[in-house]
Amino acid sequence: MSLLKEPDLGTPARPGAATVDLEIDGQRVSVPEGTSVMRAAALAGVDVPKLCATDSLESFGSCRLCLVEVDGVKGTPASCTLPVSAGMSVHTQSDKLARLRRGVMELYISDHPLDCLTCPANGDCELQDMAGVVGLREVRYGYDGANHLDAPKDTSNPYFEFDPSKCIACSRCVRACGEVQGTFALTISGRGFASHVSAGAEEPFLESECVSCGACVQACPTSTLQEKSVVDLGMPTRSVLTTCAYCGVGCSFKAELRGDEVVRMVPAKTGGANEGHSCVKGRFAFGYASHPDRVLTPLMRESIDQEWREASWDEAIGFVGRRFRELQAAHGPGVIGGITSSRTTNEEVYVVQRMVRAAFGNNNVDTCARVCHSPTGYGLKQTFGTSAGTQDFRSVDDADVMVVIGANPTDGHPVFASRMKRRLREGATLIVIDPRRIDLVRTPHVEAAQHLQLAPGTNVAVVNAMAHTVVTEGLVDADFVAERCEGYVEWAEFVARAENSQGSTMVMGMANLAMATGNIGRRGVGVNPLRGQNNVQGSCDMGSFPHELPGYRHVSDASVRAVYDELWGSTILAEPGLRIPNMFDAALDGSFRGLFVQGEDVAQSDPNTQHVTAALSALDLLVVQDLFLNETAKYAHVFLPGTSFLEKDGTFTNAERRINRVRPVMPPRTGKHEWQVACEIAQVMGYDMSYDDTSQIMDEIAATTPTFTGVSFDLLDKVGSVQWPCNAEHPLGTEIMHEGTFTRGRGHFVQTPYVATTERSTRRYPLILTTGRILSQYNVGAQTRRTANVAWHPEDILEIHPHDAEDRGIEDGDLVTLSSRVGATTLHARLADRMPVGVVYTTFHHPVSGANVVTTENSDWATNCPEYKVTAVQVARARSTATDEEVEAAQPTDAQSGVGVLRSHA
Ligand code: SF4
Ligand code: SF4
Ligand code: SF4
Ligand code: FES
Repeated sequence: MSLLKEPDLGTPARPGAATVDLEIDGQRVSVPEGTSVMRAAALAGVDVPKLCATDSLESFGSCRLCLVEVDGVKGTPASCTLPVSAGMSVHTQSDKLARLRRGVMELYISDHPLDCLTCPANGDCELQDMAGVVGLREVRYGYDGANHLDAPKDTSNPYFEFDPSKCIACSRCVRACGEVQGTFALTISGRGFASHVSAGAEEPFLESECVSCGACVQACPTSTLQEKSVVDLGMPTRSVLTTCAYCGVGCSFKAELRGDEVVRMVPAKTGGANEGHSCVKGRFAFGYASHPDRVLTPLMRESIDQEWREASWDEAIGFVGRRFRELQAAHGPGVIGGITSSRTTNEEVYVVQRMVRAAFGNNNVDTCARVCHSPTGYGLKQTFGTSAGTQDFRSVDDADVMVVIGANPTDGHPVFASRMKRRLREGATLIVIDPRRIDLVRTPHVEAAQHLQLAPGTNVAVVNAMAHTVVTEGLVDADFVAERCEGYVEWAEFVARAENSQGSTMVMGMANLAMATGNIGRRGVGVNPLRGQNNVQGSCDMGSFPHELPGYRHVSDASVRAVYDELWGSTILAEPGLRIPNMFDAALDGSFRGLFVQGEDVAQSDPNTQHVTAALSALDLLVVQDLFLNETAKYAHVFLPGTSFLEKDGTFTNAERRINRVRPVMPPRTGKHEWQVACEIAQVMGYDMSYDDTSQIMDEIAATTPTFTGVSFDLLDKVGSVQWPCNAEHPLGTEIMHEGTFTRGRGHFVQTPYVATTERSTRRYPLILTTGRILSQYNVGAQTRRTANVAWHPEDILEIHPHDAEDRGIEDGDLVTLSSRVGATTLHARLADRMPVGVVYTTFHHPVSGANVVTTENSDWATNCPEYKVTAVQVARARSTATDEEVEAAQPTDAQSGVGVLRSHA
């Protein structure tokens, strides 16, 4: 249980140790310079009445409720805007102050619908609280004067409503949208009595620039901005502190419940990654957990053309275990394997990789992170010695220059983007390297100093060109390089020529640049890969790759294997197992027969869908564990229902190596935790694996993984979260890595020759397709499509430059055919001049458009392409009178084996 209402000290903390001593109502208090009198009073245990102040926002001084008296100072200054000074003596209570405060409250109340008993915020309204605090007993002005009581409600946003009749014009919402979120969607329009809150240019919220982060709702002291779930279900009565299950930012939330029902998610101020902020997904899009599409009972069938039938857990688990063993007995121990999920907890991933290595007896375990995390993990391990980002998000507050390459934080990592934008508004310089003009290039009060609109697939060349300039123009931090790095001379010679040849990845190029300029190992600098899914970092840390045991230790290391073999009673193989693409190839040639897929929709998320589905269809046993019958489940023989984050008990690790607790808000709706299922499959296979609870799993991880030795649920309960390494040397974790020395000793300059992608535009496929994600949707959309988030993105759209569209006779909103050499699909087009000519873009959130039907294996890092997805495509208007050429370009090729992929849009 966590506190339902977190303390609000009125104004933000100021950095630094306490240096200013003062007295408040006779209490001595010492606070850092720049602290407000209001905050100092709160720290001394004295609450000053307030309405327009809250500690997530800079003070504003508009409500005049927080007036105080200060010895030797004339008048009654507002304590929220008054900074402390040494020796001050402040009085927060006097007859005069009480009279003034009551007068302020009378004015507010005279223009307020007095419907407290039926108001959704009853019991959680600061106006109501303050009326009590100041002892309001009468309203001398009456209630008949001019008022705003008939102002119409705006219910356009799917998640919250705006009832201006309750607004006290405190501006907290406006300031939250600007200061915290950085969107600046709200203003106070009009003057004097007519002043009112307006979204955009007096638009409904849904049509304004509002991105539905909810910061304004959280900041509103009344019920003016209110979650619709609170209106429908009532105020929550208890809360559980847990972690968002969407992206790699890893925001901490209070799941607030009434009875057993989750009413709302409120970002926790104590959250190490988010400090009280959130995005639309984490705050509002949790309804999928109770969506009727959830499968709660195991399903089985003999073959994939049959209907599913329900089964008991015992029957399903018994069948899976026995069938895996039969396949091994008939075809050899290496014919089965597993894929772990980056959406599940560390503990669940750990148990599945143990099941594969110890019960299956091979290393055929891989993870969906292969297509997103591998290059960053590999690149940073080669250069710095650790497969992870170098510092915490907070470090960005000290950054002078930010280079964003291959990332789109406002859509993919929104809460981190808000932090970046805050620093950029303070004056930091931004360089964006991206084919598209992503939102960060120009957003309110932020403009990139440089936008390098490179061609997709050429980012290594761009990074090498930057390195060339650093080396040839004498910009190298020679002392840093000499003291802390190796391989510089060879690398400098290489980048001085900057030639193109065979090679490596952009991440190493960025790491080299950071080392060459001395920008590693302290606050405000570093290299930070943003992680796509919530637990990509953790699933890789937990030994999900076929060549690595937990903690990124190679399976060929006998001393590491010995640790696990002794504990597990196993004989781990010294050779790496199959990667996902190898599993698919082996399935097609008959040498791989059975696969356990934990919470991952490979049929939708992996490139070249036809190849993937052909491989899945060839398996003798496909077991899928997930919340919903996803695209992959269409090829499964057994479906094991998974648990949502509200039911899980464990930890996620975010993009800054921060281990956050995921606490169960309710018991598993399926009747079983996912880690229990893996243990029971192993048991049926004759391998004894069991745990009492998830803290025991974490204890085992800590006991066997050097970077985790200090981690335990007890520690996380005590301190909130820790960033690994967390061990005897760093008992409370490590915010900044590579201080003083790199994990690998000396930082290693690795040569990064640019390899042009083999995927080229041709006469037949003259455009380049690149793909990405959008704020309101998540990954393949399985969760977010089952929430009201579809209001913002009901379908995948193809963005195309107006020139390319004009050449093809395409107009905004037209249905178009997108085709590549492996497949084709149809979707609607949007003319977007943020695209460069020759490049088109789409998201892959909706299976109906199936964007990955057209992407090729070349877009997978495993085949050495950079992480940008690059596919040569043609776009044509989809119409009944298509030209011969358009029809030909849109036809499936031989490689598709006749799979019909030309679909009309639903
Ligand atoms: S929900 Fe977020 S983006 Fe929308 S108005 Fe409120 S603070 Fe601004
Ligand atoms: S909507 Fe709420 S936060 Fe915004 S000005 Fe009105 S009362 Fe204040
Ligand atoms: S930024 Fe990411 S972790 Fe935070 S609320 Fe949004 S989706 Fe969840
Ligand atoms: S709280 Fe200080 S003026 Fe409103």
